[in-house]
Amino acid sequence: MSVKINTLEIENVKRIKAVSLTPSENGLTILGGDNGQGKTSVLDAICWAVGGNKYKPTNAARDGAYTDPHIKITLSNGLIVERSGKNAALKVIDPQGNKSGQALLDSFISELALNLPKFLNASDKEKADTLLQIIGVGDQLVKMEQEENRLYEQRHAIGQIADQKKKFAAEMPSWQGVPEQPVTASELILQQQEILRKNAENQRLRLQLAACEDAVVKAQAALQEAKHALAKAEYDAAQARKSAKDLQDESTAEIEKSISEIDAVNAKVRDNLAKAAAEQEADGLSRRYEELTTEIECIRTARRELLHGANLPLPGLSVADGKLLYHERAWDCMSGAEQLMVATAIVRCLKPDCGFVLLDKLEQMDVRTLADFGRWLESEGLQAIATRVSTGDECSVIIEDGYISGAKPEEPMQTAPSEPPRYVPGWKQK
Ligand SMILES: Nc1ncnc2c1ncn2[C@@H]1O[C@H](COP(=O)(O)OP(=O)(O)OP(=O)(O)O)[C@@H](O)[C@H]1O
Ligand SMILES: [Mg+2]
Repeated sequence: MSVKINTLEIENVKRIKAVSLTPSENGLTILGGDNGQGKTSVLDAICWAVGGNKYKPTNAARDGAYTDPHIKITLSNGLIVERSGKNAALKVIDPQGNKSGQALLDSFISELALNLPKFLNASDKEKADTLLQIIGVGDQLVKMEQEENRLYEQRHAIGQIADQKKKFAAEMPSWQGVPEQPVTASELILQQQEILRKNAENQRLRLQLAACEDAVVKAQAALQEAKHALAKAEYDAAQARKSAKDLQDESTAEIEKSISEIDAVNAKVRDNLAKAAAEQEADGLSRRYEELTTEIECIRTARRELLHGANLPLPGLSVADGKLLYHERAWDCMSGAEQLMVATAIVRCLKPDCGFVLLDKLEQMDVRTLADFGRWLESEGLQAIATRVSTGDECSVIIEDGYISGAKPEEPMQTAPSEPPRYVPGWKQK
């Protein structure tokens, strides 16, 4: 059960002469009144009493008061908090009558509940971080955002390169009617060598024929001397003639032509290959761009779901780009009333044990918005003590000249010389 303020008594603190109040357990208790009457002094006194000496007003004791400041607050958990005496020393008494101190108060009093402007004036990032801290997904969300940014940068760079490559590939030359791969000269040279080898063999045979024919001539010349040799020579010649009969030389002209054209053909083949490679690379980059787009979409969806599944202090709150959003609107696009509601809801969640919040200067809310805000506070089981420059019906009490209007004592009190009358118990709260 969160702790609320049950009763409140303040005397001689800043502008306050004597104020005694029982705030509503839930919803708004509005301290109305004209300027300078002591409304904010009431909140300052509460802060000082429960928040510790760091909240002590600069000039805490009311000027000209006959007695020292006195504050007494009873809390719904049974604690009685008092500041009184010359040094306004803190006294905290628990329900069992034991003495306690500031440390116990600090365990359930929320600093931001006493000082909401600290949250209202925080940077966008600090507000968003506070919300993420409450819902416990801050680390995950930061990682997701970093990953999304990394993928986005990567996709951007790849998209630029892909565009450049596409343009580059489109401008490269391309050729029809050439082989897909470069032609090598070695194969043609081998064919040429084979032909040359055969031709050399033919040449050898031709020479052999010549030798034989020479031998025939010689043999004919020596016919007389060697019929046998003639016959043999004739026989050899016949054989040689037979071998040489079908011999025919092949031409290398075709191959020589091909060899001479190799460089030109290969230049075209290389052009085609380079163009195909550039197009392939551009296609690959385009596909990667699409993949990264899908990844970025996934991570954005995951981020939305993470916040969607979180236990938010107020429906409609979210965080994007490190900024707190309410119904998709950034802080500077929320109305003053929305800002107060968002701040109150977040502050409440930070320290759920603290069941109250102090709100100064509620003038910015019109009466209907104020009523809506009050209903929302009630539904949240939250107590708010607020000030407002107004003497209208929306105010719970009117502060006038340091008193609650209607509770100003009739009889002059024992006061310092030339001081206005001091508060006597027995006033009637409005
Ligand atoms: N120690 C003090 N003794 C007497 N008066 C003081 C003291 N400290 C401040 N004041 C006076 O109290 C007045 C401000 O009081 P407070 O801020 O509580 O008024 P308020 O009702 O909230 O006014 P506003 O509507 O303008 O916010 C100022 O006139 C200031 O001079
Ligand atoms: Mg004020």
